[in-house]
Amino acid sequence: MQPKSDKKLFFGIMSGTSSDGLDVALCSIDDNQIKIIDSISQKYSKKLQMEIIELNSPSFDDLNKSNILGNKISDISIKLIDQLLFKNGLRPSSIEAIGIHGPTVRHVPRDFYSLQIGNEFLLANRTQIKTVSNFRNMDIASNGEGAPLIPLFHKYLLNTKNIKKGVFVNIGGFSNISIVNNNSIKGYDLGPGNVFMDFWINKIKNKKYDKNGSWAKSGAVLDDLLKRLLNDAFFKKKPPKSTGRDYFNLKWLAKFQLNDLKPEDVQRTFLELTAVLILREFEKLTGYKNVFICGGGANNNLLMDQLLTRSQKNVHTTEYLGIKPELIEPAGFAWLARQSINNKRLNYKTITGAKKDNILGVVVHP
Ligand SMILES: Nc1ncnc2c1ncn2[C@@H]1O[C@H](COP(=O)(O)OP(=O)(O)O)[C@@H](O)[C@H]1O
Ligand SMILES: [Mg+2]
Repeated sequence: MQPKSDKKLFFGIMSGTSSDGLDVALCSIDDNQIKIIDSISQKYSKKLQMEIIELNSPSFDDLNKSNILGNKISDISIKLIDQLLFKNGLRPSSIEAIGIHGPTVRHVPRDFYSLQIGNEFLLANRTQIKTVSNFRNMDIASNGEGAPLIPLFHKYLLNTKNIKKGVFVNIGGFSNISIVNNNSIKGYDLGPGNVFMDFWINKIKNKKYDKNGSWAKSGAVLDDLLKRLLNDAFFKKKPPKSTGRDYFNLKWLAKFQLNDLKPEDVQRTFLELTAVLILREFEKLTGYKNVFICGGGANNNLLMDQLLTRSQKNVHTTEYLGIKPELIEPAGFAWLARQSINNKRLNYKTITGAKKDNILGVVVHP
């Protein structure tokens, strides 16, 4: 007999550390299945992107700025949700909840906080849909890293496909890995994903990102720079571990005197750093064949080529599992919102290092 289905509709909204834009997924979810019904993405204007990135460093009146920018994120989210509702002929009352993860502007688990901007009250009030936000701080309160949170969704996703073992790598601004083996799970941050490549092409060529890695392709790996980049203690640290712009930022890069080097070689070396951090993990995971790549980095051909040709793995994008790479995280926050409103305690002990199981997220009612 088929298990009883409890299919419900959820929105997931994600704006990651790249601060490139916002992705929204409309999902139908039950215990055994997730289906992406529709999705919409909006890139931020260059001005908004810079404002968000600048907010990651202390500045005058940043308390006010973070709330004003948070309201802007909510305004964009509300518009995108309205569009998806209209396009799919849905009323707000047919949606169970929205899960929103706005841009992270501080992530400091050792001081017991992580701050994502976005106004959940505006969102709930304007959409008339229950809204779940602030997913990280309960995990941090129980001594967890508060990140990464998507590995449990990766495990659920493999379960829905009856796949027992697999590895996910999300390549956003930063990269994180999930290792699923039957019902056990591990997950942690690896370090920079696209963040340095984006920063460098922006500085030198005033472009948002290196499409398909084509600029990097024109350069050569600088072995000495790579060695010095890889020498950072974070890369040697044992999990649980998480990171972000609080650590890997302009200040961190300043010690490498990049301006003295050929710019395309620097770009190629940043891509190499991202690739090597992932390939090193693959080498350790001898019992695993299938790897699923998600996040914007899955669209970088040169990076994907490195992962394909320099490992023994079957490297797929998550398209293989039926979800586009850029929709995994929004779908994940839709799933986390479902767990939250169902008061499900989640076990992140082997991922974030949390000392107990928690219900993550704060629920706001319209
Ligand atoms: N076609 C592409 N070629 C190279 N890089 C890409 C491409 N598409 C997206 N990206 C990279 O992916 C990033 C966005 O990835 P995303 O998963 O949204 O990260 P985040 O979760 O940090 O916002 C972009 O900033 C860019 O660096
Ligand atoms: Mg993004």
